[in-house]
Amino acid sequence: MSEKLQAPRGTYDVLPQDADARAALEATARRVLEGAGYRRIETPTFEATEVFARGVGASTDIVQKEMYSFDDGGGRSLTLRPEGTAPICRAYAEHGMHKLPQPVKLWYLSSFFRAEKPQAGRYRQFWQVGAEALGSDDPAVDAEIVLLLATLLEELEVAGLRLRLSSLGTPAARAAYRENLAAHLRAHEDELSADVRARIDLNPLRAFDSDHPGTRAVMQTAPLLLDHLDAADAEHFATVRELLDGAGLPYEVDPTLVRGMDYYTRTVFEFTSDALGAQSGVAGGGRYDGLVEMLGGPPTPGCGFAAGVERMLLAAADTPAAPPPVDLFVSYDGARAAAFKLTAEARAARLNAHMELAGRSRKGQLKQADRLGARYVAMLDDDGGAVLKDMQGGAQHDVTAGEVVARILRDRTLR
Ligand code: HAM
Repeated sequence: MSEKLQAPRGTYDVLPQDADARAALEATARRVLEGAGYRRIETPTFEATEVFARGVGASTDIVQKEMYSFDDGGGRSLTLRPEGTAPICRAYAEHGMHKLPQPVKLWYLSSFFRAEKPQAGRYRQFWQVGAEALGSDDPAVDAEIVLLLATLLEELEVAGLRLRLSSLGTPAARAAYRENLAAHLRAHEDELSADVRARIDLNPLRAFDSDHPGTRAVMQTAPLLLDHLDAADAEHFATVRELLDGAGLPYEVDPTLVRGMDYYTRTVFEFTSDALGAQSGVAGGGRYDGLVEMLGGPPTPGCGFAAGVERMLLAAADTPAAPPPVDLFVSYDGARAAAFKLTAEARAARLNAHMELAGRSRKGQLKQADRLGARYVAMLDDDGGAVLKDMQGGAQHDVTAGEVVARILRDRTLR
């Protein structure tokens, strides 16, 4: 025997028993988001690497360490998408969506790829439900995005939720603040982890994310960006908060909230769940007012979220869905062609029908029909005749194979 092959590390198979919960999640996402005017978009699984290098940011972990990039054979670098926001902004610019009534509201349910260290809730191929609203900088868009995400998580019964909210201001305010923060880190350089020390100039904000005790102590006294916003950004944030307060959505303002992409401006947010282990982030997002322009489109504000499908399912109440009912099981000894024809006829009449496919004995076939919970069994003989058995009532009738479907449909209407 050859060596048994396995799915790559950090990936998993969606088996039939897991598929129903995912389908239910998709149906809920569709209802919540399409009800609010978001329409489905799907972009390609891979993009020019440039989309992420420019969009997500060259200094981010995602671009530096986590992308699956490859040559397209013609010297052009492509990358399996690590996230959905930059590709959607690329599509917005490419298809001239700025000519449509704004904001353009889009949603997606797609798989993404990051070369991260696999662990519970962290995969190398994972799925996200996301929504992006492009073309308006109204704080009501930010509040709508956060509230829709909260509704989605609530409807999916994701347990132990906590929402943190902050504002990152404009790139200019952020640049000035980064200088400030870098100076603070440099003043405490020997107390920091090697990792943070190496990134003081590249990405000092990541220091807020560190678990290292020395770094954490230094961050206690670090200046906070939220205290250094421009007047317009501070007002934008105050309005987002007012709208969420008005909607009765509880949240915490967390000035140390760090997101993994460079494209964010103004509002950022993250939902965590205490039903998850170390990978507690269920969903996150924010505003990205410069991203479309960075990808070659017209200046366009935008705001959105993405929620991890695996993490939502892990943190949600487990409600197994019933498989679809089986109306008819077709049993036979030698009359395979007649059984096949009857099964096809039944399906054409919208009955859920199965036929025997494993060469079982008659007894074994009845057992299989029972296991499937089939309502009727048609036992075909070799001469075009059949016994139709109602497995619930126990009634049995001699019929021809050609009469089976009509008989079931008639019984059904009489019931
Ligand atoms: P993100 O925070 O990187 O944001 O990812 C969003 C969610 O995807 C996370 O909260 C988590 O649930 C899930 N996720 C991320 N990485 C993994 C992984 N390796 N395994 C399993 N789940 C994972 C974004 O991707 C932004 N595009 C969100 C956004 C949309 N911002 C604005 N619009």
